[in-house]
Amino acid sequence: GLKKKEVHVLCLGLDNSGKTTIINKLKPSNAQTQDIVPTIGFSIEKFKTSSLSFTVFDMSGQGKYRDLWEHYYKEGQAIIFVIDSSDKLRMVVAKEELDTLLNHPDIKHRRLPILFFANKMDLRDAVSSVKVSQLLSLENIKDKPWHICASDALKGDGLQEGVDWLQGISH
Ligand code: GTP
Ligand code: MG
Repeated sequence: GLKKKEVHVLCLGLDNSGKTTIINKLKPSNAQTQDIVPTIGFSIEKFKTSSLSFTVFDMSGQGKYRDLWEHYYKEGQAIIFVIDSSDKLRMVVAKEELDTLLNHPDIKHRRLPILFFANKMDLRDAVSSVKVSQLLSLENIKDKPWHICASDALKGDGLQEGVDWLQGISH
């Protein structure tokens, strides 16, 4: 059959935000794993949608590994940036990492689509996706298409909406 168009995606965000859980949930159920552990370095994951074949660089968000991110920026054609919506204490750290990303020479002048997941919406402490976009000043991103989805990666809520957007914009 026809080969699907391949898209390279970088999955970024702080440790414990739910990146690996989200990517795992996007795979067909027979390819999903039950035990998710903190990512060491990064892991390359693949999943297909109806029209595209995604290769995801699932990066570790731990401080000691964040320096790895920039080595993969050139290869990325889209970014998934995950936020733990219940982690109010580290929202400012997430903003710092996002700002550093947006100002990087390999990112700054490219029209890379960025999909934000305001994740962990099931938790009582979670703030709304509108609040997350305010706290991260997403309205300042003017030169890249971006979209934010509220998600609960444990149930899978919100993930399809995000992928549909990414798929539409990546064609
Ligand atoms: P690093 O690999 O260390 O960067 O972390 P990560 O962003 O990949 O997070 P990971 O997917 O390992 O998830 C961290 C923890 O959050 C796990 O215990 C997950 O089960 C949990 N988690 C992920 N998504 C959700 C969510 O939507 N709701 C709740 N309640 N827990 C979640
Ligand atoms: Mg991980």
